[in-house]
Amino acid sequence: MFNLNESKPYEIFNQSCYGLTPLSDNSIDALITDPPYGISYQNHAWDKALPDKQIWADSLRVLKHGAFGLVFSSVRLMHRLMVDLEDSGFLIKDVLFWVYLNGMPKSRDIGLEIDKALAVESAVVGQYDYVQGYKKGGADNYYTETKKLKYEPCSELGIKYKGAGLGIKPAYEPVILIQKPLEKGLTVAQNVIKYGTGALNLEQTRIPYAKGESKVGHNPHPNGRVSANILRVDELEDGYDKFFVIPKVRQSAEKFNHHPTLKPVELMHHLVKLVSFEKQQILDPFMGSGSTGIASIQLKRQFVGFELEADYFAICQKRLDLLT
Ligand SMILES: C[S@@+](CC[C@H](N)C(=O)[O-])C[C@H]1O[C@@H](n2cnc3c(N)ncnc32)[C@H](O)[C@@H]1O
Repeated sequence: MFNLNESKPYEIFNQSCYGLTPLSDNSIDALITDPPYGISYQNHAWDKALPDKQIWADSLRVLKHGAFGLVFSSVRLMHRLMVDLEDSGFLIKDVLFWVYLNGMPKSRDIGLEIDKALAVESAVVGQYDYVQGYKKGGADNYYTETKKLKYEPCSELGIKYKGAGLGIKPAYEPVILIQKPLEKGLTVAQNVIKYGTGALNLEQTRIPYAKGESKVGHNPHPNGRVSANILRVDELEDGYDKFFVIPKVRQSAEKFNHHPTLKPVELMHHLVKLVSFEKQQILDPFMGSGSTGIASIQLKRQFVGFELEADYFAICQKRLDLLT
């Protein structure tokens, strides 16, 4: 077992997380991880299947009693992941929804597919800029690749089903809040006294009042509202922002980070604060380019991470080096 301290606040491993062999039982204060979703995202081999549930049993072993965890998930396979977590001994406490604006619907025009199946030629009715996606920075910042031809169905059935598709715009990702049970026989307070774990850090995760808001509720807290299980990084300016928007964190863009499922640092700051207190140790068994680690170190926590791919591990190492 290694020793982490203020001058060496992290330990990262370029190896598979299964077994979590370098870690002792009951030694870690919180788990935050964004594991493979099992949806073959952009055809990445590492995303072909959900993790084997062995890793959740391993995580339970190394976490302290009462420790909380946050596990990102896909909407489609969240149910399987939740069952795996529960079967491994975790309590399911909540599901947070991280709401975002830049998700693109993955769909096709079934009217055109019907034309094709019936061997009817669809009509070319113009062209459009093919939008691949949004760059970091939001909705004003989309990039276009090429002009593409625009078609309309021509068969009778194709016209009937014109515009029918297969999916709606994804606008949230679930984050499952779990907890390792308290030590048998202990109350929450006794567990916190013994291990420092068992309570959420609500004071550090308050959502500040909106500009100009004078008083909220009968007994307003000076630092804002208790954070909710809906989280937003983007503002929608619709009146609900004041409940859900996480304050921005000053951060310069790291151009070298090409991890395909990089998480926003504001979001990771919020999650780290929610399930841990200063100087505690946070584990991410699927750290990718290390967003959990960056947020943990910036918030004076300690970090232990695992990443299988050498390429992503190197990005994580570079990001951590830039912090120290
Ligand atoms: C969804 S990504 C995490 C991205 C991360 N949140 C970020 O912001 O960069 C999941 C990562 O788990 C890694 N991975 C998959 N199987 C693993 C294993 N058995 N052990 C360690 N890492 C693994 C993948 O290579 C991938 O980088």
